[in-house]
Amino acid sequence: MQGITIKNILEKKGKEPITCLTAYSKPMAEIIDKYCDIILVGDSVGMVLYGMKTTREVKIETLILHGKAVKNSAKRSFVVFDMPHKTYSNKFIAYKNVKKVMKSTKCDAVKLEGGRKIVNIIKYLTKKGIPVMGHIGLLPQSSKVFKLKGKNLIQKKQILQDAMALSNSGVFAIVIECVVESLAKKITDSVSVPTIGIGASKYCDGQILVTDDMIGLSNFRPRFVKKYSNVKKIIEKSVKNYCSDIKRRKFPSSQNVYRF
Ligand code: KIV
Repeated sequence: MQGITIKNILEKKGKEPITCLTAYSKPMAEIIDKYCDIILVGDSVGMVLYGMKTTREVKIETLILHGKAVKNSAKRSFVVFDMPHKTYSNKFIAYKNVKKVMKSTKCDAVKLEGGRKIVNIIKYLTKKGIPVMGHIGLLPQSSKVFKLKGKNLIQKKQILQDAMALSNSGVFAIVIECVVESLAKKITDSVSVPTIGIGASKYCDGQILVTDDMIGLSNFRPRFVKKYSNVKKIIEKSVKNYCSDIKRRKFPSSQNVYRF
């Protein structure tokens, strides 16, 4: 099967919205692969699956295991690996870690959080042929609080400058997290690569959400998340019924035993 390429992603800018979700496991990747253009193996795994307080605690070795599971299960979508905190502190450390990630997971690209401050690192990686996705606006690896960005003129100007710098550094797309609508629109209109919004309005070229938030499996429910199902409720009902069946000796039934 022909997988989605960077060329396909670039061609969608301004024409067809790009669909993205996170995945950390084989079953989730197999479902998402049928519909999404991009799957992100996000460092959000730390908070979503491991109950960590921030994404800063995620170790590269842990995310590599998730990256392998997702990439092995995705035949169509373009798979992006989210470089964990402190794995790209300078261009040499970044390249060493990115090479390790690409070699062991076979993911298609990496994502780095930051704007002008990390442009030299991104340029170094893209010159070496590594496909890089940028990430601006709210930066979970460095922000202490979850707060909307771009509310004042200074912040708007800085984030726009970050976007322009990333676009000129060779990234193939930019995630814009949690910024005001007018800024997301301005960035999308100003940069040549697709913008992927999370809490950044319909004016981005694509959208991403954390899958567990979108299906109602996590407890995280900011304004920008639309809940498409209540998987937590479905699982809870199944667990309750399972326990009740055992207590009432209804499970296992004759259908669930081996008789010779
Ligand atoms: O780690 C993650 O899931 C992300 C998305 C929120 C974009 O970076």
